[in-house]
Amino acid sequence: MAKDTVTITDNATGKSIEVPVLRGTHGPPVFDVGTVYKELGMFTFDPGFTSTGSCESTITFIDGEEGILLYRGYPIEQLAEQSHFLEVCYLLWYGRLPSAQELSDFETIITHHTMVHEGLRDFYAGFHRGAHPMAIMVGVVGALSAFYHDSLDIHDHRSREISAHRLIAKMPTIAAWAYRYSRGEPFMYPSNKLGYAENFLRMMFGFPTEEYEINPVAAKALDLIFLLHADHEQNASTSTVRLAGSSQANPFACISAGVGTLWGPAHGGANEAVIEMLEEIEDARNISKFVAKAKDPNDPFRLMGFGHRVYKHYDPRAKIIRKSCYDVLDALKLDDPLFDIALKLEEIALKDEYFVERKLYPNVDFYSGIIQRAIGIPTNMFTVIFTIGRTIGWISQWNEMIGEKGLKIGRPRQLYTGEATRDYVRIDRR
Ligand code: ACO
Repeated sequence: MAKDTVTITDNATGKSIEVPVLRGTHGPPVFDVGTVYKELGMFTFDPGFTSTGSCESTITFIDGEEGILLYRGYPIEQLAEQSHFLEVCYLLWYGRLPSAQELSDFETIITHHTMVHEGLRDFYAGFHRGAHPMAIMVGVVGALSAFYHDSLDIHDHRSREISAHRLIAKMPTIAAWAYRYSRGEPFMYPSNKLGYAENFLRMMFGFPTEEYEINPVAAKALDLIFLLHADHEQNASTSTVRLAGSSQANPFACISAGVGTLWGPAHGGANEAVIEMLEEIEDARNISKFVAKAKDPNDPFRLMGFGHRVYKHYDPRAKIIRKSCYDVLDALKLDDPLFDIALKLEEIALKDEYFVERKLYPNVDFYSGIIQRAIGIPTNMFTVIFTIGRTIGWISQWNEMIGEKGLKIGRPRQLYTGEATRDYVRIDRR
């Protein structure tokens, strides 16, 4: 039988080394290049990490060829259908489904952490009224480390757990307040009588002067959006959180770094960009013009919400969200012309050779804005909603890394192509 190794040969020197092949539960094997520099004096080179596994993880698995997504082994379709966001938070953090008692205790803990320190409230006043809510999120989430000193010991398991509870619980409050601040409206404190998504809706849209009536369709749809965004293995923001955490920075600082990364339009910012694109298309008759622009190599325009580094198949989350769009619009008796444009755009793109050849399918961001619009979430809050959902994934991945034996600081190398060594020239001689 062939040995479970890969041979790497430097043809210039003829020197060969054998490196071990590692196999996970699912997915392609990897070969461990940890000894390559020591043995061959070379680094591997992989900008964008298209062929590089950066860690071992037990949390989430994606099969991009088949369009499969598992959280702790459970298919996303089953969780979307039968579970709910806080149960999924428990699953991602603790690694298993809770008993009824464990879930109820967990929900109570999260509910009782939803308030934020009053001092943190004052931070909001320092932001420009026109600030993007994601800019406020980056600042306020980072500032949590200045208020919760008692859970910053990253080497203490219990301390990490408390930080995780705080982050999951406070994120909707921080997010809703970012929105209220931009509107000049009063901050609503959380209510312990309400569920996670319900609480967020009330903090977003309620007023202290009157009762806020929760729309169960909106709460369910939002809970689903949180659940579908909860984790996605080593994406850009999660990798950022891990890299920041590898320096042993505190969890709030690491999550704030993740929030900043998520904001970009190539990542979580795409949901906002999709709606802007659909609005710009305006009419289904203009779709072909936009498809042509997306295909033009000289035009930087891309179909937002299309394509994915890992999925070369329909993103399973997009499939679930697309179905939910029909359900939500139907239940709320809404007709959204942007949904019709999105459906038509998908149909045209999926028949187009350019998209077929490159295996470009709708990703999670393509339809999520349609649901969010239907339940009244403004476009500039879409990435904030993504942030709330993804917080559990970030903190679980961070916790997994911190818990590893022999944690190493993340420190990639480079191919230097700058000037060769040269002597400094005094200013009067230049
Ligand atoms: N529209 C048009 N062409 C595209 C698109 C798109 N949305 N996405 C990829 N392509 C093309 C590229 O131009 C490239 O073509 P080429 O081979 O002729 O040069 C080819 O498909 C491969 O694209 P890459 O950029 O190399 O793929 P990569 O894996 O690096 O990028 C990404 C993935 C960033 C998601 C990309 O598909 C994209 O920009 N999509 C639009 C933004 C988006 O929806 N982002 C959200 C991603 S999901 C998430 O983060 C939640």
